[in-house]
Amino acid sequence: MKLNIALLAGDGIGPEVIDQAVKVSDAVAKKFNHEINWTPALTGAAAIDAVGEPYPDETHEVCAKADAVLFGAIGHPRFDNDPSAKVRPEQGLLKMRQKLGLFANVRPTFTFPSLVDKSPLKRERIEGTDLIILRELTGGVYFGERGRKDNGNTAFDTMTYQRFEIERLARKGFEMALKRGKKLCCVDKANVLEASRLWRETVQAMEKEYPDVEVSYEFVDAVAMRLIQWPKGYDVIITANLFGDILTDEASVISGSMGLMPSSSLGSDVSLYEPIHGSYPQAAGKDIANPLATVLSAAMLFEDFNLKEEAEAIRAVVNKSLAEGVVTEDLSEGSKAYKTSEVGDWLAVNI
Ligand code: IPM
Ligand code: MN
Repeated sequence: MKLNIALLAGDGIGPEVIDQAVKVSDAVAKKFNHEINWTPALTGAAAIDAVGEPYPDETHEVCAKADAVLFGAIGHPRFDNDPSAKVRPEQGLLKMRQKLGLFANVRPTFTFPSLVDKSPLKRERIEGTDLIILRELTGGVYFGERGRKDNGNTAFDTMTYQRFEIERLARKGFEMALKRGKKLCCVDKANVLEASRLWRETVQAMEKEYPDVEVSYEFVDAVAMRLIQWPKGYDVIITANLFGDILTDEASVISGSMGLMPSSSLGSDVSLYEPIHGSYPQAAGKDIANPLATVLSAAMLFEDFNLKEEAEAIRAVVNKSLAEGVVTEDLSEGSKAYKTSEVGDWLAVNI
């Protein structure tokens, strides 16, 4: 197969982790006789510095034409500490999600056999966890009306959802559940928020189309607790943009490190693959960041092109690196810490 992939390294550790995912993907392509053409493009603070905006039109062109997008990370402390900055790197990511129509963010949570004891949570609670948080990505409070009033002394952000936005996400959730554990949990705050009541109403109306899926409804505050208390109780969770953002960081604790969690963002056309972690500016340029979340995001990419063996080869080599202790400092615990690039080289060779 021939794949044209847009490569958006972004900021901070983005370029370093992306390099490793490219190495590993190229090794897989070679082994299974595929051809990958990578087209790099600018985004984030790097793009602001070069052309004044975080998701330039040229970058959008590259993404829209590609078969898929592999993305590193976005964000720079220079902007975090300046709330008045008009142009921010994160706007690039949001604009990209919106312009590419990436409404469904798939964030799987699973455990790695060799890391179960690295999690701060007890082994018996988390071992065997296998759930997906399907986060709505182009609506809600991230994209609702916002502003300031009263000479800047009042600020507001609105959570707006339209029925079709909920329905298309829920449909993906139902379809995923059918192929997995056949359970779907709609996570909201319907005891308080009108937008959440529309979520419930919409999902309830769809239940009869999927008689084989067991549907439940839970409040997000309760899920924040249950998710780490008994993650094995969940199969597919569907939830609004902001709730999903928060719950997926929390869920990463189950697998042992933020540096391990991949994701995909799906729409109707081109899909995007990215680690769920941020740009980790403190580590930028030091060759110490964990590249596995990005490498595993590449595995999700292969899987979505129906290249299952290829995806499995990546997952297997990642498991092997963890089992053999070929890991970066976030996971090395006193034993030898490998560099980001060394982990990438090792994975590529062992593919
Ligand atoms: C994520 C990130 C982004 C988000 C930021 C960087 C805009 O936290 O992908 O989870 O909030 O969606
Ligand atoms: Mn986040």
